[in-house]
Amino acid sequence: MMTHTAGPHAFPLSPRGSLSIGGVDALELVRQFGTPLHVLDEGRLRANCRAYREALAREYGNGGVLFASKACCIAATCQITYQEGLGVDVASGGELHTALRARVPAADLVFHGNNKTADEIEYGLRAGVGRFVVDNDYELELLDTLTAKMGTRVEILLRLTPGVEPHTHKAIRTGGVDSKFGFGIADGAAYQAVARAIRLQRLHLRGLHAHIGSQVFDLEPFRLEASALLDFAAHIRDELDVTTEELNLGGGLGIRYLSTDEPPSIGTYVKGLADVVKSKLAQHRLAPPKIFLEPGRSIVGDAGVTLYTAGAIKAIPGVRTYVSVDGGMFENPRPALYAARFEAVLADRPTATPVQTYAVAGRCCESGDVLIWEAHLPEVHSGDVLAVFSTGAYTYSMASNYNRFPRPAVVLAGDGRARVVVERETYDDLVRKDVVL
Ligand code: LLP
Repeated sequence: MMTHTAGPHAFPLSPRGSLSIGGVDALELVRQFGTPLHVLDEGRLRANCRAYREALAREYGNGGVLFASKACCIAATCQITYQEGLGVDVASGGELHTALRARVPAADLVFHGNNKTADEIEYGLRAGVGRFVVDNDYELELLDTLTAKMGTRVEILLRLTPGVEPHTHKAIRTGGVDSKFGFGIADGAAYQAVARAIRLQRLHLRGLHAHIGSQVFDLEPFRLEASALLDFAAHIRDELDVTTEELNLGGGLGIRYLSTDEPPSIGTYVKGLADVVKSKLAQHRLAPPKIFLEPGRSIVGDAGVTLYTAGAIKAIPGVRTYVSVDGGMFENPRPALYAARFEAVLADRPTATPVQTYAVAGRCCESGDVLIWEAHLPEVHSGDVLAVFSTGAYTYSMASNYNRFPRPAVVLAGDGRARVVVERETYDDLVRKDVVL
């Protein structure tokens, strides 16, 4: 069957039949900017933001969407998501700095983290960050001390662990009882934290937050999470006379990495959550809080394509054929870290029939640096451009300089034009902080 699109997200083809991203021929991007290259499709990024905003407005009405910037924290993604009406979730001083540099108003930032330092908290307070999501008693105390010292107040949410275990990789589950994050509901820590927070004069408790995990397809854990938070909201209303004005349900919706993946749509996910929230509000006769969602991967993941040039090709008869590309775990550590799987095509003939299975290897000095163990591709020659899909989230933001590889450039492609939004690192960038003895 002839297809006219490429990859799990149906990217269109250029007039000459090559892969097209944001209306720009991938081969032209390579010619202009080199490889490895992280390309973000601006149209998809914006469409995902809108899909969230519209779904929340339609299904619930009152609240907002925040971009979990950790998925790809660069100025351009902060700017674009903010332009689309999202706030930004930051989880470190560096993410905070990036969002502020991108001119996102501090009031639209939510500050996360299970071990914020005093310096980071002061930075956030001075900037006027809209909400601090307090993770533990240590932070409650720090906030109390620092607001006193600075003569200021702060709006907070409490991060709770609802005891929900989604079906996803262990390293990216966060809502279970055994978690470094948040106040547990089950063991009474959450209740104690609320009781304590409302006694602190300079802290204004606005509501509750939870995030249970990432790359989750099953909606049931999200429903359980929302139920647990609303049961808890009813409990603290009844016992402590505390009103939950805001409920931040975190992120976690999975995306399609392989063409066979079937994640729920953004609309289905938001409706699923809104339905549970509404029925729980009715059950407990709770005043409707504002609902906030905090997606990262499902905002930026499918917008990303990474372009590589194939170099060495090594066939081991009866075993496998490796095609080595000019990227690797230094710019996409997800396969090595989580056994994450990706799909690739050849950029100049993305719809050509696959004839062989290749292992697409990176350049780092470890055997585990393989980006795709089984990529079904047409015959690959050195010099061919490979395009790997679904690389918008947790690739560039998790990139390192392992083996002292410079990080790739990030290019934004939209409406037929491409702009560099992060420059490629140079060798001089790599040694800039080194002290030569
Ligand atoms: N909110 C909080 C508090 C989070 O910790 C996270 C992700 C999110 C929102 C966004 O979740 P998302 O919608 O992106 O699933 N590096 C891993 C993923 C780690 C997720 C960490 N927290 C990966 O590459 O799969």
